[in-house]
Amino acid sequence: MGHSDKAGKTPAQSQLQQFWMPFSPNKEFKREPRMFERAEGMYFYTPDGRKLIDASAGLFCVAAGHCRPEISEAVYKQLQTLDFTAPFLRGHSGAFELANRVVEYTPAGMNRIFFVNSGSESVDTAMKIALMVHRVRGQAQRQIFISRERAYHGVNMGGVALAGMVNNRRAYGVGLGGVYHMRHTALPENKFVKGQPETGAELADDLLRFCNLYGGENIAAVFVEPTAGSFGCLPPPKGYLNRLREICDQNGILLVFDEVITGWGRMGENFGAQAFGVTPDLLTMAKALTNGAQPMGAVAVKQELYDVITDAGPERGIEFFHGYTYSAHPAACAAGIAMMDIFKKDRLIDRAREMSPYFAEAMHSLRDLPVVADIRSIGMMAAIEVAPAGGPGARGHDIQKRLYDKALHLKSTGDSLIIAPPLIAEKHHVDEIASKIRDVLSEL
Ligand SMILES: Cc1ncc(COP(=O)(O)O)c(C=O)c1O
Repeated sequence: MGHSDKAGKTPAQSQLQQFWMPFSPNKEFKREPRMFERAEGMYFYTPDGRKLIDASAGLFCVAAGHCRPEISEAVYKQLQTLDFTAPFLRGHSGAFELANRVVEYTPAGMNRIFFVNSGSESVDTAMKIALMVHRVRGQAQRQIFISRERAYHGVNMGGVALAGMVNNRRAYGVGLGGVYHMRHTALPENKFVKGQPETGAELADDLLRFCNLYGGENIAAVFVEPTAGSFGCLPPPKGYLNRLREICDQNGILLVFDEVITGWGRMGENFGAQAFGVTPDLLTMAKALTNGAQPMGAVAVKQELYDVITDAGPERGIEFFHGYTYSAHPAACAAGIAMMDIFKKDRLIDRAREMSPYFAEAMHSLRDLPVVADIRSIGMMAAIEVAPAGGPGARGHDIQKRLYDKALHLKSTGDSLIIAPPLIAEKHHVDEIASKIRDVLSEL
């Protein structure tokens, strides 16, 4: 067990109380802490020296594997050269270089990049860009946002309004008004489907129903994750995203892909946009952009939308009243640039595409276990849903603790285990992940 008080550098009980942990059961954790001390490549290490395979790339961030020296050296050098500069009215070369490097990967035409510090900030930023574009075009009445059940769009107030997971919403009152949710795409007939399901494209017509009910001319934007990630890997039914694109075009609605998880190779292509052959108007990203080594997110925007806003601004005045003190932070840009080099050098996206079929087979091989209720997979992401026991989510929570104790880290949501290893994973890593999950699920 790696959670004893005496072990390694796990702090004493009295030292664990002050840090209020995010999205965590604080009382339980502080009774039985499960800590990490260091990480390298595909593995985490506990304070008492146990080695755990990282089956969720930390939290979908660490595409290139942990502790890449190229990144830490770049960040160190940057902090010794230019540690900080005001991002408003002043520039530094790293921000411009990283934006240029990022647009080598975004879909053609999506070549304007607004930097932020997290996925949540990228979502709220995209909402503001959408509102601003419509206002400048003389369509300020477009204020409704459409999202989807089971969606996760971060935790800022805009993202919470878009959210489709009840626990992320229920405590926070009415929040933003004017946000409506399409049905999710988890149809019972699509259980145990590998990749994109054949059925369910017609669920995109929910958007049409909202156009008919609220007036398509009043809708600003539709937000979807190309594959719902945090809820537990829901790939889009074939034709679903195309249909959303079509309805958006017919009604002048902006389509936003939230690619905070699906971006940067996770779907086997640069972004979900390319994997599914549908180009949005705005695209949010974070996580693997810096390999998780520095906090950073971004919104990629079609040039014509950037032009709409900037052309309308005064010659010497601010065009878009939005930005963060740490937007395009020099250290985050340095990490991002180093990561762009790694994407090329390590062929991370090609590797993800090549490994995906093997990964899918390994995950679906767990289907015979009696506790498994569904398995979904696409690219280098999969979810194994277990039958609930002891209330929704209780069994999933218990399993992720058992897995930690059996030397595997993953993210669980409710009763779904989400597997999304670093894109450097070799076949033997995939095998190790599958066999450790099998061991634990066989105990139940
Ligand atoms: C699709 C999506 N959007 C937004 C976010 C929020 O990102 P962050 O936690 O960096 O704020 C996440 C986080 O997992 C996400 O999966």
